[in-house]
Amino acid sequence: MKKRHIVAAIFAGLCLSSLAQAEYIIKFSHVVSPHTPKGQAAQFFADQVNERLAGRVRVEVFPNSQLYNDNKVMEAMRLSKGKTGIIAAPSLSKFVKFSRQLQIFDLPFLFDDINDVHQLVDSPLMQTMTNPLERKGLKALGVWDNGMKVFSIKGDRPLRNTPADFKGKKFRIQSSNVHAAMIKSLGGIPQKLPFKEVYTALGQGVVDGQENAWSNLYSKKFFEVQDWITVSGHSYLGYLLVVSAGFWNRLPADIRAELEVIIKESTQKARQYAAEADAGDRKRIAMAGKARIIELTAEERESWRAATRKVEKEFEKQIGKSLLKQVHQLLGH
Ligand code: LMR
Repeated sequence: MKKRHIVAAIFAGLCLSSLAQAEYIIKFSHVVSPHTPKGQAAQFFADQVNERLAGRVRVEVFPNSQLYNDNKVMEAMRLSKGKTGIIAAPSLSKFVKFSRQLQIFDLPFLFDDINDVHQLVDSPLMQTMTNPLERKGLKALGVWDNGMKVFSIKGDRPLRNTPADFKGKKFRIQSSNVHAAMIKSLGGIPQKLPFKEVYTALGQGVVDGQENAWSNLYSKKFFEVQDWITVSGHSYLGYLLVVSAGFWNRLPADIRAELEVIIKESTQKARQYAAEADAGDRKRIAMAGKARIIELTAEERESWRAATRKVEKEFEKQIGKSLLKQVHQLLGH
């Protein structure tokens, strides 16, 4: 073996052993592909921790539901003990059991665009909405973007007119009652399914369509089994970064402080990755020439908004009237 190879091997060995000997282990479990905004941000977080807290904390990333799906991960987090913790970033839509207020993110047409979302996420109201999690054993660490959602469907025509184009069609949704009410108000039939099952369900016709951000349509190839995509931007897909509160509180204060810094940086990275995927994955889907992409006219968008307006009323009590009022004030509409 050449000298530089020996040196490289020793260096790699040292790195591995310092990783292996970390005092605390964090398993980062998520359900999407490594090349999505969440996948990239999770890897950025892991790389930074593994470098800056080498020997003290090691992060291992498990993408594609390899370790847990989004329901199971919440339970696993709450039960985690000792020096191994779990971090996950399920979509905000999956937290209703922990905070009814977070359902606000699922309301259709609440946000005009991603800047509206950032205004809310970066405001003190976010803390109000995530506070209830702590009593249930979870600590919220940040919100990571994916992007505004689009609708897709298989069939002979795109989704333009409500309720006509939705009638009799089944749509896969996440485990959110707000989403279910939204699909019904548009004229369709909602069906809750875990993310892992969506591609097969679309391919086999178990459901006709779905709603998601561009990166998920692209990375999980939904666009290959759908005929039309409607750029509706009707609501936001974002993630709440969470950790077991017990594990978090057991960490030494200096480690927690460094993790907080890294999380802030990762959140900025997530915004950057999401903006890139939003444009890039849309382009890649358009170039693949499978599903055709259509934009709603201003009138069509307005009719979707009008059809779904009752959803907010339906969930007003659960979310909280005063919170809703504050959010509308903040967003200026
Ligand atoms: C979904 O279930 O559609 C999303 O929450 C998946 C994800 O994590 O982006």
